[in-house]
Amino acid sequence: MANPSRAAEPPPAFDAAQLANPATARLRAYDPGHDLPALRERFGAAIAELGSNENPLGPSQRALKAMRAALDTAFRYPDPRGAALKHALAGQLGVGIDHLALGNGSHELLMLLAQCFADAQHSIVYSQYGFAVFPIATAAAGARAICVPALPRGHRTAPRGHDLPAMARAVRRHTRVIYLANPNNPTGTWFGDAALAAFLEAVPREVLVVVDEAYHEYVDVQGLSTALPLTARHPNLIVSRTFSKAYGLAGLRVGYFVAHPSVVAVLERLRESFNVNVVALAGAEAALADRAWLARVHAFNRAEREWLRDELLERGYRCLPSQTNFLLCVLKQDATALENRLFGQGVIVRPMGGYGMPRALRISVGSRAENRRLLRALP
Ligand SMILES: Cc1ncc(COP(=O)(O)O)c(C=O)c1O
Repeated sequence: MANPSRAAEPPPAFDAAQLANPATARLRAYDPGHDLPALRERFGAAIAELGSNENPLGPSQRALKAMRAALDTAFRYPDPRGAALKHALAGQLGVGIDHLALGNGSHELLMLLAQCFADAQHSIVYSQYGFAVFPIATAAAGARAICVPALPRGHRTAPRGHDLPAMARAVRRHTRVIYLANPNNPTGTWFGDAALAAFLEAVPREVLVVVDEAYHEYVDVQGLSTALPLTARHPNLIVSRTFSKAYGLAGLRVGYFVAHPSVVAVLERLRESFNVNVVALAGAEAALADRAWLARVHAFNRAEREWLRDELLERGYRCLPSQTNFLLCVLKQDATALENRLFGQGVIVRPMGGYGMPRALRISVGSRAENRRLLRALP
């Protein structure tokens, strides 16, 4: 017979966190930062969105036209092979289409890689102050993180950048993946082609090396081109790119890997079949064909970044060297007060406390009007 006193007890609160698998149980959800739609409403045209390294010039007109036309086909599923975009990429990059994997942003592919190749038996190496997705991908796969201290703050060419020799030494028998970003977010720093070539010689073939080139299209420094030619000699090398930055298509979510066909084949086993939507496939393909627009974006960013750096320096703000569309400014004191002051005037920048750099702010290169708004808001 049921015990009436027990029946009256409320059941314990349901908490699905207790049911999550061990790797997910240890994770925290992505911090979405400021509520940007609300801020756009609050500040209107006076907002300066300098927190997410987007392209203030936006996408090429050709991409916009292709996206509008693709909307008519949105009642159909997208091509699960992404064949047209892959062919366009293969032609431009000089690789076979079996070397290409498409992602719903490169973020998806960076996560998928760890999920496919590593688990609790393995470790994954990345750098202190490296891209935020690397530790998340590692934790989500349940792998052990080996976070290698960055180069010292006073380093001549890459302060707080990746220390490649130390990263090669950090590899252990069960290391499966190494994540590098070149140039790196959030530091903006980079390493040269020769340093990468030496690094790859020092790393065993059984360790997959990802070179995340999200900012590649902004680069114009001598000695840094791309890791792509090294894929011929190193089948364990994976190059990651995105349409979110210089192509001005962050909201579309398209990224890609260039990798050995056997790496692509493994990723394909877990990739969601329709991960890149019809509008995104069409927009990315058209954007790729518009080389003139990309050249314009590149030139604008270079000139504006250097102008902004000079203006900041004149006001006493020191920025790290950058080959990207953002600057990492390091203050003499904690940056929270400055971030709050800027925020109050509608100037959104990215605080770096979460990266272990409480005195730094990451500032994207905006339009001239946005950059001026930033400068006016400084004390
Ligand atoms: C270094 C780096 N890699 C990858 C990404 C993610 O790009 P996507 O929009 O393709 O997911 C970013 C975005 O900020 C980045 O900075």
